Amino acid sequence: MKIKTKKLKQKVLSSLRGRLNRYMQKAEWFSRRSLGDFFQTPEKIAILAKSYGTHISKKSPHYLPWVGDKTFILDLEEAYNLGFPKDKDKFEPSYWSRKILEEEIQKDIVRRYMVYQTSCHCIKLGGNFVEFGVHRGVAAALMVNQIRRWNQISKSARVEYFGFDSFEGVSEPNPKDTTLFGYKRWKKHSLKLSWDNFEYLNRALNQLVCDKHKIHLIKGWIPQTFEEVDVGQVSFALIDVDLYEPTKQSLEWIYPKLLKTGILLFDDYGDPECIGAKEAIDEFSKKNAPLIHLPDGLAMMIKS
Ligand SMILES: C[S@@+](CC[C@H](N)C(=O)[O-])C[C@H]1O[C@@H](n2cnc3c(N)ncnc32)[C@H](O)[C@@H]1O
Repeated sequence: MKIKTKKLKQKVLSSLRGRLNRYMQKAEWFSRRSLGDFFQTPEKIAILAKSYGTHISKKSPHYLPWVGDKTFILDLEEAYNLGFPKDKDKFEPSYWSRKILEEEIQKDIVRRYMVYQTSCHCIKLGGNFVEFGVHRGVAAALMVNQIRRWNQISKSARVEYFGFDSFEGVSEPNPKDTTLFGYKRWKKHSLKLSWDNFEYLNRALNQLVCDKHKIHLIKGWIPQTFEEVDVGQVSFALIDVDLYEPTKQSLEWIYPKLLKTGILLFDDYGDPECIGAKEAIDEFSKKNAPLIHLPDGLAMMIKS
């Protein structure tokens, strides 16, 4: 009896501690929204360093370019609002509730900044943008916003976005699709949302770019859907399908279409749950082009 009460007490205490931590983090996030300078005061740096995780360089802890980049921060907020619409989100499992969305943004901020930065370089090359694995459309919104800005600057711009996704979650995993920790993570339809967001995303991304001829969402299984479209010449592709087979198939299909100095960005490379995707990328890299390893489990390939 005594042991049972003790255990219960510990459980309640740890749950309260967890809640308190989440509230503290949230409060920090809101207080940080107004910060925007590259070079912060030591106090501000300490707060940022704590909430932006482990990515702070020991040599230059003041240097957090994603914080100082106001265009990025605005794009990011827009992208998450688009990906997590309030009215639909309430039907999602509590894991994705808005309460922890702010933490989600913090966790992914460096990865999102990499998408933003690399696409910022590639937009000037003139080729199209392609994404394999669209899901909620957060990265899609970041990419489409680059296209919108570029179209405003360059009147003759013809950059288009092509996003491939089943909108039904991942395909059947291969035996290579293990995790670093050995547990079974993937089965067909993992990551499927509780609501069908295809029509919604199509509309929302088109509204963002204000030119519906430039946005193409292709619904269906990779690689079958590759036959349905001509993506033309490509300057930037984000490969983010989590599994061995679709990563390999996307890579082999897109690489010949990539312009010189164009970039392939891999979101899953260092993800402990995406061992199969990493293997597909390594195999392709050995035969074709070296990999550049980036923070937060990303990697990229530049076409030479
Ligand atoms: C991690 S999510 C993509 C996240 C998105 N790139 C972002 O950053 O916002 C992976 C997506 O890949 C899609 N996917 C996985 N295997 C697929 C396949 N064989 N065909 C089509 N889509 C697939 C899933 O439906 C899922 O939406």
